[in-house]
Amino acid sequence: MMEKPEELKLIDENGYRIDGRKKYELRKVNMKVGVLKNANGSAYVEWGKNKILAAVYGPREIHPKHLQRPDRAILRVRYNMAPFSVEERKKPGPDRRSVEISKVIRGALEPAVILELFPRTSIDVFIEVLQADAGTRVAGIVAASLALADAGIPMKDLVSACAAGKIEDEIVLDLNKEEDNYGTADVPVAIMPIKNDITLLQMDGYLTKEEFLEAVRLAIKGAKAVYQKQREALKERYLNVLQEEE
Ligand code: CDP
Repeated sequence: MMEKPEELKLIDENGYRIDGRKKYELRKVNMKVGVLKNANGSAYVEWGKNKILAAVYGPREIHPKHLQRPDRAILRVRYNMAPFSVEERKKPGPDRRSVEISKVIRGALEPAVILELFPRTSIDVFIEVLQADAGTRVAGIVAASLALADAGIPMKDLVSACAAGKIEDEIVLDLNKEEDNYGTADVPVAIMPIKNDITLLQMDGYLTKEEFLEAVRLAIKGAKAVYQKQREALKERYLNVLQEEE
């Protein structure tokens, strides 16, 4: 979040945001499951200008071995931004931000995965951000959840996610990059829609308690809409498999 230039209006007099959306409108979200031949599961998500690939390997033997858990699999997540994914070239390799995001994404996915079924193994999730425009952690969670399902890993629920935030004194759904930069707050939320559980809840910026609750409610609504798209993308994947077999 940065200081907003005086003349910049994030919502115009007719209630439209700079990319033409209304307050409670999601960016365009498209997803495809099963896009990589050499991973056990994969998915590609375009969410506004975000472009994100997720790949899953496993359950597989763990290296180093001392990380093995006798009673369950371990889930490892690496969120990585390509150098060309942002305006100012990102130095390759992990930095504090990507280490933190990897950790919170792991926390968001773990409650959904039935790790007890695969003792002594690891399930590895790789999230590659090819193009970033704010909201990459929620888009990464959505992609990773699809890739886990595509890998055939038993899950209690899909994990869906979305953010809401505050711009120009209004709570709005799904901030884009300018809104994230010049807005007042951003609240990413991940949910397990069927289990009715929240698996990620963060806040960047400033909100009153009421505004925070409004943002969380709105983000959950957004995540539920994204969940429907995840289901459709998975169905399409299996229809394709059926057709390939015929
Ligand atoms: O992407 P997300 O909103 O989950 O995380 P963030 O840390 O709030 O980052 C917001 C946005 O800032 C990213 O999506 C990128 O578009 C941008 N960013 C950037 O331009 N350069 C970086 N090194 C990191 C983030």
